[in-house]
Amino acid sequence: MKLKIAVLPGDGIGPEVTNQAIRALKAIASEFNHNFKFTYADVGAVAIDKHNDPLPEATLDLCKSTDAILFGAIGDPKYDNNPLSKVRPEQGLLKLRKELGLYANIRPVSAYDSLLDKSPLKEHIIKGVDISIYRELTGGIYFGEKYTSKDGDFASDLCAYSREEIERIAHLAFRAAELRKNKVTLVDKANVLETSRLWRNVVKEVAENYPDVTLDFLFVDNAAMQMILNPKQFDVILTENMFGDIISDEASVIGGSIGLLASASVGDTYAMFEPIHGSYPQAANRGIANPIASILSAAMLLSHFELHNEAELIRLAVEKSLKLNISTPDINSKYDNVTTSKVGEFIEDFINNPKDTNMNFANIHLGQSTII
Ligand code: IPM
Ligand code: MG
Repeated sequence: MKLKIAVLPGDGIGPEVTNQAIRALKAIASEFNHNFKFTYADVGAVAIDKHNDPLPEATLDLCKSTDAILFGAIGDPKYDNNPLSKVRPEQGLLKLRKELGLYANIRPVSAYDSLLDKSPLKEHIIKGVDISIYRELTGGIYFGEKYTSKDGDFASDLCAYSREEIERIAHLAFRAAELRKNKVTLVDKANVLETSRLWRNVVKEVAENYPDVTLDFLFVDNAAMQMILNPKQFDVILTENMFGDIISDEASVIGGSIGLLASASVGDTYAMFEPIHGSYPQAANRGIANPIASILSAAMLLSHFELHNEAELIRLAVEKSLKLNISTPDINSKYDNVTTSKVGEFIEDFINNPKDTNMNFANIHLGQSTII
């Protein structure tokens, strides 16, 4: 298959982790005879520095002319700590999502058996967790009208949703549930918010088209509690933009590190693949950033184009790396010298030699080649 992929590494650890995802994609291309063409563009704080714009026109044009987008991370402390700054890196990501109509953000959360002891949650609570979060991505309070009074003493953010915005992601969530465990949980705050009441009504109607799928409802405060009390109750979680942002960071604790969680942001025309973690500026250029979320986002990209064997091979490689402690310090209590690129090298080797049982795993921690 021929694919044009726009690469937007962004800020902080974004470039390092994205490099490893590209390495995995290149290995897949050579192993399966695909033709992937990567074109780079600026976004976020680096784009503000270079072009005075977090999403330059050229970047948006590139994204619109490619088949898929691989996104790194966005954010820089020099903007976080300055509430007065008019231009912010995050605006680049939000505009990208809106302009490309990426209304559904899919965030899979699972607990790897080899990492059960890495989560602060007890093993019996997280073993076997397999959740798919469907977060609405282009509406709600993120995109409603914003206002700050001239004297700076009053501010407001409007949360608004239309039936159509709810319907389109609800259909995706129900279709996903049909291929999973046939359960959708709508997370909202319908005891307080009008928008949540609209979500409930519309989602109930959509549910009638999917008789095999059970629909249940949780208020977001309760859902936050249930996520750590009994996460196994969840199959597909469907929720609005901000609740999805918060609940998915919370869910990342189950897997042991936010550095493991990938996501796909899809709409009717475009698709973008991004780790859920941020730019983690303290870790930038130190070789300690976990590239797995980005590598698994690349696997989601492959699945999106129905390249299921290819995606599965990446996932196998990731599982193997976790099992063998070929992982960065956030999840590796045994070895503290495994770098971001060492993980990428292992994944690449595994993809290139999927049937090779002679991998010299013993030597990898000594900095030697992974292949005999
Ligand atoms: C995410 C991030 C973004 C969001 C930020 C960087 C704007 O936290 O993708 O979850 O809030 O959507
Ligand atoms: Mg977030």
